Amino acid sequence: MRAVLRDAYGGPEVLRVGKVPTPRPGPGEVLVRVRASSLNTADLDHLQGLPRIARIEGLRRPRTPHVGVDVAGDVEEVGPGVRELTPGDRVWADVFAHGHAALADYVCVPAGALARIPDGVSFADAATIPHSGLLALQGLRAAAPLRAGTRVLINGAGGCVGPLAIQLAKVRGAHVTGVDTGDKADIMRAAGADAVIDYVAEDITRSGKRYDVVLDIADSRGMLAMRRCLERGGRYSLIARRLGSFARYVLLGPLVGRLTGTRMGTILWKPNDRAHLDELGALLAAGEMRPLVDSTWALDDAVAAFEHLASGRARGKVVIVP
Ligand SMILES: NC(=O)c1ccc[n+]([C@@H]2O[C@H](COP(=O)([O-])OP(=O)(O)OC[C@H]3O[C@@H](n4cnc5c(N)ncnc54)[C@H](OP(=O)(O)O)[C@@H]3O)[C@@H](O)[C@H]2O)c1
Repeated sequence: MRAVLRDAYGGPEVLRVGKVPTPRPGPGEVLVRVRASSLNTADLDHLQGLPRIARIEGLRRPRTPHVGVDVAGDVEEVGPGVRELTPGDRVWADVFAHGHAALADYVCVPAGALARIPDGVSFADAATIPHSGLLALQGLRAAAPLRAGTRVLINGAGGCVGPLAIQLAKVRGAHVTGVDTGDKADIMRAAGADAVIDYVAEDITRSGKRYDVVLDIADSRGMLAMRRCLERGGRYSLIARRLGSFARYVLLGPLVGRLTGTRMGTILWKPNDRAHLDELGALLAAGEMRPLVDSTWALDDAVAAFEHLASGRARGKVVIVP
């Protein structure tokens, strides 16, 4: 089968599309024929071996050559002991914690990490959601509950996770302000943002505007600065980009929250939560959430697709269709 492969850490230049044996499903595993995948910032980090702790499995070179986390496809074969799925079932998953091998014609996934794609949702649409959608859902859930009129600020709202987080907050009736560069205003508005702020032109921590909930995807400012964006009683949820930020919020977030009458926390994201995938699937099927696609590429052109994402020019998800 074809697969996107790499033998070293680096940028898209280390990638190639090559041939490898088609994997066979072991006990509890399912062989999925990949119909679509999509790229995430997490894929670029994985290529680089970031965060550095991720290199624990391969200090000098990656332990496995495979890449890719978002899978939408159909079941080709089930391994011993798998009863809940049969060949032909339409499934999706975030395989971040399961071998990172989505960019291929086939991938083996533990049955427990797969959820069913709802009827009426295409493979290409489904593929835009798992990794970034789970981060968005879990990040907002950590700051929940959102109600009609809750004022939500999403920092870093124009990337992979942000537009999905905007949509999830809008579904719950929140008033959403997205923060990113000015040239991502259109994608934030397309996702439903009520207001947008260009972080280059305005310092959100000095503007005096305050919000009930802050979801921070950019991880660009310190804890004390971000606290200034919150109303008293407000809640802040960080999707940490750096291990240091994660540790800081775990250790100091509760203390700063108590001293300032807010709640400052970070999430430990669960990559294959089937209930959360089902929730996202139901929203997609009902048309309450929609994929925002930048471009669609063939698997053979995956290296160029990675270069496009790495260039910062993508507005919406970059989809790969084998
Ligand atoms: N904590 C966990 O458990 C966990 C698990 C998986 C992934 N992650 C992390 O979660 C993040 C996922 O986010 P993503 O995929 O949406 O990343 P992304 O696509 O890079 O989006 C981040 C956005 O923030 C913008 N930005 C940069 N600096 C900013 C600033 N000072 N103020 C406001 N916005 C700014 C970026 O725009 P520019 O074009 O200007 O850079 C970009 O549009 C990644 O960092 C990943 O490492 C965390």
